[in-house]
Order: sequence, then C-alpha cells, then structure tokens
Amino acid sequence: MKNPAARHNVDAIITTDLLRQLAYNEKMAELGKISAGVVHELNSPLSVIISAAQMIMREEGVPKAVQEMISRISSEAQRLSHLTKSLLNFSSHEESISDVDLNLTVDFVLNFLNYEAARRGIVVLKQLDYTLPVIRLDANLLKQILLNIIMNALQAMEESGGKLLVETSSCEADTVCFTVADNGPGIPAETISQIFNRYFTTKKPGEGTGLGLFVTKNLVENMGGGIAVTSRIGGGTTFTVTLPVCH
Ligand SMILES: Nc1ncnc2c1ncn2[C@@H]1O[C@H](COP(=O)(O)OP(=O)(O)OP(=O)(O)O)[C@@H](O)[C@H]1O
Ligand SMILES: [Mg+2]
Repeated sequence: MKNPAARHNVDAIITTDLLRQLAYNEKMAELGKISAGVVHELNSPLSVIISAAQMIMREEGVPKAVQEMISRISSEAQRLSHLTKSLLNFSSHEESISDVDLNLTVDFVLNFLNYEAARRGIVVLKQLDYTLPVIRLDANLLKQILLNIIMNALQAMEESGGKLLVETSSCEADTVCFTVADNGPGIPAETISQIFNRYFTTKKPGEGTGLGLFVTKNLVENMGGGIAVTSRIGGGTTFTVTLPVCH
C-alpha cells in the first residue's frame, strides 16, 4: 500500500481487531479460571449432600415418602455434580489431540445444553450413526464448535418453542459429518453470506459478539474440514460440518 495514511488506517483497524480478539480470548480464559474455581467450591458441598442422602437411605424404618424425597435430593445433587464437572471439562485449556467419538461428543454437548433447551421449551432430537469411525482432533475444540452452532439454534428459536435435530453420518470416505437443524425463523438471503464474518450479529448489544461463527469456521477449517449453511425464511436453518477422519 503506497498511501501512508491509508496504510496507517489499515494498521489501526488490524490493531483494533486484534485487541478485540485478545480481549475476547482473555474473557474466555478468565471465565475458564472462574468456572474452575466455582466447580472446585461446589464439589465439596455436593459430595457431602450425596453421601448424607445415601446414609439416610441406608437407615431402617425411613418412611416411604421421606425415602422418595431423599432419592430426589440425591439424584439432583448428582446431576449438579455432573454438570459442574462438565463445566471444568469445557474450560480446560490444554490442547490434546486424541481419537474422538463424534457421537459421544454430541451427547456431551446436548447434555450440557439440556437446561438451555428445556427452558425455551425446545424439543431436542438426535439421529446418530453408530458406525462412524473415530476422528483425530482436539475434543475440546470440537465441543466448542458444536456448542456455538447449537447455542445459536436455541437462541434463534427463543420465541417459537421449536425443534432441534442433531444428526451424525459418514458423508464421504474418510470424513464424518454432523448437521444441526432447527425450525427457527431462518436467515434472510441478504445476510446469510455475512454470518461467518467477524463481529456480524443480529443480536442486541451485549447479547452477541458476532464472533461465534467466525471462530467456529476457523476452528473447522484448521481441522481440515468445512462448514456450510442452508436456510429458508420461516423454514429453519441447517448447519453441516464435515471433518476428516485423519489417521
Ligand atoms: N440457527 C440460526 N438461525 C438464525 N440465525 C442464525 C442462526 N445461527 C446464526 N444465526 C445468525 O448469525 C449471526 C452470527 O452468529 P454468531 O454465532 O457468529 O454470533 P452471535 O450468535 O450473534 O454472537 P456470539 O458471539 O455470542 O455467538 C447471529 O447473530 C444470527 O443472526
Ligand atoms: Mg453465536
């Protein structure tokens, strides 16, 4: 670029973008540290609740109604304990490439988002292909990809009480695929080409950074995969992610 003023402007834009990206990463890292602390703090009282409930259950002569209530306390405490452990798993920053089962990862993320779907009255369906080969990648990044796409779908169906379908399949040789289909409002033709752009969001200020799909696309492409979207106004949106098996 010959014009020094223009060059300066581009530098300024890149610097601002980088700073925002860093701020976002920083926020996520901070969130990770906070959730690790919260998980640690929550796990001790939860273990006490679970074992106290088990001790009461072992007592003789406990009335049936009390037994039922204790059993509910115990199973809810176990659910919380499971959830807090999942949080810790999400916030892990260690890069670890391993053999990953796509179906198990889908199950993990859907369990994690169970509450988010239920509170919106969304029915979650899954159709998993159990003949899929394992894929070699960083499981935490795959969780992040699924989380971003599924969370967008849940947010899109906020007011419609919709249906979400997650499917896995082996689309071509040496690849695995998953699709996330919702029956939300769809994406207008004039904006669909922008959804993977950095900072593109239709959410209210403070509700969306517009980084979710940008980061998702980068993660997928860094894994050697691809992401595609189809959408129809009033007819919902489907994201398809293809990943190489890589062995
Ligand atoms: N399933 C979907 N249905 C309808 N619109 C969608 C869907 N998924 C994404 N979008 C559109 O794409 C935009 C960009 O999504 P992206 O995940 O990048 O950012 P965001 O969700 O707005 O914010 P965040 O950074 O918190 O994820 C959304 O604001 C929304 O307009
Ligand atoms: Mg998003």
